Amino acid sequence: MKSACTTTTTRLLPLALAITLCSCATRGSSEAVALAKEVEEGSASATLEEGQHIFRYDTFGNETLWTDTLRLHEVVNDKMQPVEALALGLKVDMDKLDKSKFIKNNPLSAGGTRELLRQDAVVGLKATFDENGDIATLGVTCALCHSTVDNAMVPGIGHRLDGWPNRDLDAGAIIAMSPALTDEQKAVYKSWGKGRYDARYNQDKQNGPVVIPPAYGLQGVERITVTGDGDQIAYWNRYAGVTQMGGHGTFTEPRTGVSVTNGTDDRISSKLPALQAYQLSLPAPPAPSEKFNESAAQRGKVLFEGQAGCSNCHSGATFTDAGSRLHAPSEVVSEPEAAGVPSYASRSATKQYRTSPLRGVWQHPPYFHNGSAATLEAVVSTYNTRKSLGLTASEVNDVAEYLKSL
Ligand code: HEC
Ligand code: HEC
Repeated sequence: MKSACTTTTTRLLPLALAITLCSCATRGSSEAVALAKEVEEGSASATLEEGQHIFRYDTFGNETLWTDTLRLHEVVNDKMQPVEALALGLKVDMDKLDKSKFIKNNPLSAGGTRELLRQDAVVGLKATFDENGDIATLGVTCALCHSTVDNAMVPGIGHRLDGWPNRDLDAGAIIAMSPALTDEQKAVYKSWGKGRYDARYNQDKQNGPVVIPPAYGLQGVERITVTGDGDQIAYWNRYAGVTQMGGHGTFTEPRTGVSVTNGTDDRISSKLPALQAYQLSLPAPPAPSEKFNESAAQRGKVLFEGQAGCSNCHSGATFTDAGSRLHAPSEVVSEPEAAGVPSYASRSATKQYRTSPLRGVWQHPPYFHNGSAATLEAVVSTYNTRKSLGLTASEVNDVAEYLKSL
């Protein structure tokens, strides 16, 4: 999201000044914020409240991976300054900040990341401290990749937006800081870039990251992941929690041969129902009306449902036929992958692709699983060329305007 704040000046200013300069917030997030508030105030159901807590703060015991094996706590403790943390795409939850402390001490000074962690304000990271005040353990939560903030204070610092993909996050660069990896592994992690992550690389050793998807707008979507590997969100949450985050528990999938058990205690299974309920409660953010042209969008809708044939696959309230079928890579315009990149579908359990749900699609460029289309105009142009739809340039634009309105 582009914010009205100017990144260059505010990021380096002492925070007190920055607050007075900038009190802007991201638009289009009101529903998600309202729900999060309900959960916080306890007016949402107990299950949602529990699910929100797990989504934001539960590490499932994955300190075993991030601390004992990867030793990232040493890197964060000794080397990572807040400006660097923000540059890597880590986000700060302003509602957790002890503002009086912040205004006195410049939080962007040395040691500031440790202080932010002590206040439990770094989205998706959880730390504990030893008696010297150094980081003793570090773990990660779902929010690391699937939440961002609305930049209400300064870019990178604001109110949480759960379910919004963190497309600024350079997860690969963060992991590559681990002193425990080989040079070859580091090179792969560093190749991913912001907003991308390969949730299969540590299992199949192939390198082809995908863009981090939203975890909102999934109510009524009957297959999960871009390749439709599971019927339920919980299927993939178990996969991510165990095989990617290193949480304690078990994931087994005969179709891919992945079978991982961490620890002797299961700290995931009992949490999956509430975690799933919380994600299903997160609505896709409504399209801000100033972001698209209404009459072009209306013309685009007619094309989407007619000449362009989009609704043959993007059908129903969630704009996907995932409930009844998946699609062979040969039908899908984002294939073949770029030279040297293995087909993502070939690495999955289904070997096919799910038609992407489109609610809230305005919010999360770039598009397609591999991020090969930078904008919605580029998406429609790709379809127009690859599927020989015969749309004129202004018709391509109309369909893109319609997509921006969903
Ligand atoms: C390191 C980043 C990272 C973390 C941490 C992470 N995910 Fe994901 N998540 C991804 C990526 C990348 C994908 C896309 C994988 C695919 O579709 O093949 C994904 C896919 C998903 C999807 C599927 C969305 C869809 O459209 O079907 C959901 C839901 C989800 N994650 C929720 C979670 C939850 C809940 C957790 C915590 C248990 C979690 N993720 C942890 C990166 C992450
Ligand atoms: C044959 C079925 C099919 C048809 C027809 C189709 N799509 Fe898709 N669409 C898909 C699949 C499958 C994907 C996922 C591809 C990927 O992730 O790489 C997708 C992805 C997309 C995305 C990316 C969403 C995201 O989150 O990145 C957009 C936007 C989109 N389609 C719009 C359209 C438009 C507009 C049309 C008509 C011009 C259209 N689609 C026609 C199946 C279809």
